Amino acid sequence: AVERTLSIIKPDAVAKNVIGEIYSRFEKAGLRIVAAKMLHLTREQAEGFYAVHKERPFFNDLVNFMISGPVMVQVLEGENAIAKNREIMGATNPKEAAPGTIRADFAVSIDENAVHGSDGPDTAAQEIAFFFKENEICPRTR
Ligand code: CMP
Repeated sequence: AVERTLSIIKPDAVAKNVIGEIYSRFEKAGLRIVAAKMLHLTREQAEGFYAVHKERPFFNDLVNFMISGPVMVQVLEGENAIAKNREIMGATNPKEAAPGTIRADFAVSIDENAVHGSDGPDTAAQEIAFFFKENEICPRTR
């Protein structure tokens, strides 16, 4: 089925100037960018987005990293988009990510791992709504 998923290019990858290279990976995988914005997250936004992790030991480091610079946030649409995006991102820990994946190629550590992608249909819907109003999403008409 055609799905939508929420993707974030994190501050490490924005700083490395590889937004375009990562967008190219999405496009080559058949994922369409149907919404996008660059943001420098506030602490409140980062804490809200990652609220599910707030009891985890890495929560503070995660929030501080995510507000350390601008991020690029996008909605990707396509057949099986959630799993497809996870496949091209590679494992959360870049040291375990398959060769040729975004994290293997652009990330150095589990803390600074270049990209985020929704992990399932419910989180995708929630995460998309966190950043985008319905009228900010632009499905293809041709
Ligand atoms: P992300 O998919 O954005 O979701 C939460 C992030 O926390 C994750 O990517 C990692 O960058 C970061 N993180 C740091 N340590 C861990 C850990 N031990 N397990 C999972 N995520 C971690």
